[in-house]
This record gives sequence, structure tokens and C-alpha cells, in this order.
Amino acid sequence: MHNFHYKEGKLYCEDVSVEALADALGTPLFVYSHATLLRHITAYKEAFAEVPHLIAFAVKANSNIAVLRLFGREGGGADIVSGGELSRGLAAGIDPKKMVFAGVGKTKDELREGLRAGILMFNIESSQELIALDEVAKEMQVTAPVALRVNPDVNPETHPYISTGLKKSKFGIEIGKAVEQYKLARRLEHIEVVGIHSHIGSQLTKVKPFVDALSLVLELIEGLRAEGQDIRYWDIGGGLGITYDAEAPPLPKDLADALMPLLKKSGCHIILEPGRSLAGNAGILVTRVIYTKKGEAKNFVVVDAGMNDLIRPSLYEAYHDIRPVVANDRATELVDVVGPICESGDFLAQNRELAQMVPDELLAVMSAGAYAFTMSSNYNSRTRPPEVLVCRDRYDIIRKRETIDDLMRGEIIPAYLSDDS
Ligand code: LLP
Repeated sequence: MHNFHYKEGKLYCEDVSVEALADALGTPLFVYSHATLLRHITAYKEAFAEVPHLIAFAVKANSNIAVLRLFGREGGGADIVSGGELSRGLAAGIDPKKMVFAGVGKTKDELREGLRAGILMFNIESSQELIALDEVAKEMQVTAPVALRVNPDVNPETHPYISTGLKKSKFGIEIGKAVEQYKLARRLEHIEVVGIHSHIGSQLTKVKPFVDALSLVLELIEGLRAEGQDIRYWDIGGGLGITYDAEAPPLPKDLADALMPLLKKSGCHIILEPGRSLAGNAGILVTRVIYTKKGEAKNFVVVDAGMNDLIRPSLYEAYHDIRPVVANDRATELVDVVGPICESGDFLAQNRELAQMVPDELLAVMSAGAYAFTMSSNYNSRTRPPEVLVCRDRYDIIRKRETIDDLMRGEIIPAYLSDDS
């Protein structure tokens, strides 16, 4: 569900005309709906109300500090994977006691930063990382709260690039070796085991893989308790899918209903790490048509947003719905919507039926609130778009469009290359 709809043939985000936004702020442009973000976090809160829980938004999905702040004000926390995300969470005012730190390659510096901030727990992915954290905690004379990320080897039935819970995956500790790793953790003086974590993949469109994986984790929790290892926090990860095209993923309520018996049985404080399902359908990327081009084999609509702004179609062959911002009743044609970047892989859509477009007209690339701006780059020396948050009839720029100065900030020509050397 989202708050992008047509009024008299024009696309609106809540009560703000997308065309007016594009005219005022230029394109490409990311537009997010406050009402949608709020509704999504509320849906999670209500769905999981029966168990003590924390909704730790996966910052990697949308790391704008205004978005983080919005979730933080609703009681949400943050699932972070780097020192940078930790800083963003803190800058947004999120309580560090609501932050969990995941990732296979946390450096000692990052571990130190997490300890200094006093985060809720580190989700540990290997024995080497556990030992590194113990060392850092010892240096700082503190105790580090940890959960071990276990890998239940369940197929999430999603794109292989975003499957994370299989045996061949780099993530987590094999579930069969978890007991042994928990024993190691208990022996380490500066480690305090507080929880368990798993995350099997992203854009899941069924509840079964969640139930299968978490049933295995619950068995493990019970086994650990039988050996005297208490588990207080059960972090069940993120991964719930959204509708990009025709998918009909479960709602947070459906997920909660399917998981509730397991969660209740555990007696644990539940942590969730949704990213896409909170932010994905709360955003669009607005782009202007530059040219249309008829090739012998294909017709192209060349727009001013490219793979540097939204890489998902190029990287995962992901589908994003594309709609004219001002509806028209022209005949449709089969087109590729492509960006200005010098790569054949630079497309936003391929073989798409789209109403005929004319240069200067606007298109909205839907479902661009998650893994969109956060995965953008400056490739081809393109400045990155602004981000705007719409709330009813007002809008606020929550990230300015980058400037040419931003683009070259930090670059230095060595003295020996100067003209007079
Ligand atoms: N927790 C962990 C440990 C994760 O690795 C992820 C996502 C999440 C939570 C959030 O998952 P979500 O609820 O958003 O599915 N760039 C890809 C998605 C990569 C997901 C990486 N991990 C894409 O654009 O589809």
C-alpha cells in the first residue's frame, strides 16, 4: 500500500503534485511519502504487539536521517552494518540501546565505535569476529553484548544475490556449529551472550521459509537453554517482500500470525529488521524524458535517471513499475527505458509497454524507497538526486541535490603535476 495516486490525471504523493515537485526541484528526484512510512511501521507494531519487540529498521534500505528519525519517533530502532550507519542512527536520535550491529566484516574500529555508543548487541558472524570483539572490549574494559548469527540453510526462494541463509552463503555461522560457538562465546571474558540472530534473505514473498528457518532457530534456543545458556533477544531478521509487479507478499500481520506460536514459546524479546517492507513502496524516482529514439530492433525512451541513481534493474534485473506522471491516452508501445550512462546495462525497464512518451514529459519509477538512493553512485560523474519527504500538502527537501563541488570534494592534484613544477 502506498500514497501515490492520480488526481485528475496527475500523479500525487499524498496531497502534493509530483509534476509540481519536479518543476520546482528538477529531476531526477526521489520522493517519499510520510504517510506510507508511518503506516508501514504502525502495521509492524500492531502485528507484533502480542510479544515484547523492537523494530530495528534496516538502515541500508534507506539511510536518510529524516527517515530514520521518523521511525525512531515511532519507537523504532536500527539494524546497522557499518560505522557510517551507526553515525547516521545516532545523528537521527535513535537510542543506541535499540541498535543491532550486523555484517560479516566489522573492523575493530567499527566494533570499538559500537561499544563506545553502547548498542544493544552485536550480531556476530564468525569465531574470529567473536575473538576480535572480546579483545576490543577488553581494551576498553567493558563487556560486549552479543547474539550469534546462525545460518539455518533454508531456501528463501528469492533472487540468489539477496539470499543469505544458505550453506554456501558468506553469512552467519552454520546452525550445526552454533552450540560450539556459543560455548566459545561463554568462555570469553569480555563477551556477554544475550541473543540469537538469523536473516535468510530479502524480498521473500511467502511465510513458509520464515517459519521453516525460525522453527530451526527455536529448536536451537531450546537446546542452548538446556545447556544453561539463556537467550533473551531473538532477532528474526528482515526480508519481507513488497509488490513491485504482481507479487502478493504476506503483510506484517500474516507474518506475525504465522510466527506468533514460535515467538511466544521462546519467551524472548523479539527483534525485527525490516528494510524494504517499511520503505520500498514509500518512495518513487521521478525522471524526465530527454529523447525518444526508434531503433531498428527496439524503441528507447531515454530519461535523465540512470543506473547510478537506481541500480536494481541493472544489477538484479529487478522490475520497477514505470508510470507517466501526467496520464495520457496515447497508444502504448514496447520500449526500453534507458538512462544517459555509457553502459548497455543502464536501463530502468526493458521490453515494457508504456504509453508513448514525448521529450520533457515525466515518468515515475515506482517502489524506489528502498535500496534505491542508498545504492546510488556518482558514476559518469553524475551528481546524485535530492530526496524529498512529503507530508500531506507540504514537502521538505531531506537531502539536497549534489553539486559539482560535492562531486570533486576531497580530490587533490599532487604538487608534482602542477604547471610550475
Ligand atoms: N537484516 C539483515 C542482516 C540484512 O542483511 C538485511 C538485508 C535486512 C535485515 C533487511 O532486509 P529487507 O527487510 O530489506 O529485505 N540490495 C538488495 C537487497 C539487499 C538486502 C541485504 N540485506 C535489493 O535491492 O533488492
